[in-house]
Amino acid sequence: MHIHSAIADLRSALKNRGRIVFVPTMGNLHAGHISLMEQARAHGDTVVASIFVNRLQFGPNEDFDKYPRTFADDCAKLAAAGVDVLFAPTEADLYPEPQEYVVEPPAIQNVLDGEFRPGHFRGVATVVTKLFNIVRPDAALFGKKDYQQLMVIRNMTRQLAMPIAIVGGETVRAADGLALSSRNGYLSETERAEAPRLYRLLNEIRDAIRQGEADTLKLEEKAIAELNAAGWKTDYVAIRQQADLAMPKGVNAPLVVLAASRLGTTRLIDNIEI
Ligand code: PAF
Repeated sequence: MHIHSAIADLRSALKNRGRIVFVPTMGNLHAGHISLMEQARAHGDTVVASIFVNRLQFGPNEDFDKYPRTFADDCAKLAAAGVDVLFAPTEADLYPEPQEYVVEPPAIQNVLDGEFRPGHFRGVATVVTKLFNIVRPDAALFGKKDYQQLMVIRNMTRQLAMPIAIVGGETVRAADGLALSSRNGYLSETERAEAPRLYRLLNEIRDAIRQGEADTLKLEEKAIAELNAAGWKTDYVAIRQQADLAMPKGVNAPLVVLAASRLGTTRLIDNIEI
């Protein structure tokens, strides 16, 4: 695996490499990322990963400084997964001057996670656009665990006519159902034992809807009450239309249940499609 940090070096390394498939990450790689790397191979000739902890998508009181940085381990995992090229820029490589031109997503950036993380999706859309301009991939893979992120990137790519196929990868889970995430490492032993409750509740909502329950607000409120009673601090549990994350008009269209809740200081997100 070849590793580049300078934009110019990466660009020359990617000349004449056929169809480029790209998997951007912020590092601290787990089986969810590795599954995306393995799926990437089916979409092109050269698999490119990136590792960059993007300051622009973190709020002032979020975990940018403590976000786990495990570069040596990550490189070993990427090489073992057959990644051809790793782009690992420093902040000076990617943001040599203040990033004043940004990509501003529409109203979808202000709902669900966007409501609780103002500016987050602007930061994501901006860095992903910049990474796309550098790597110039034919296809790019993103995990479905970050469902709203995947939708923002899909819509952005389509509306700005970027010639890139966006592929969503299924969420990879621990045996007890907890969605794999770099932030799981922040959980204490007790919190880790409690954490699967989030996915259990999402499943209960899905089962209730499948069995004919149509009162989505009641289902959301019940799940929030159970989480909070078990010591969580819940930002939202929301049943939405898969197509646009709008409030559902009924329960017959394809739906997705999304949740974000805090255990101690760790904010976990998850979702399940219906
Ligand atoms: O999902 C992530 O890890 C990040 O949001 C991404 C897409 C790499 C942009 O920094």
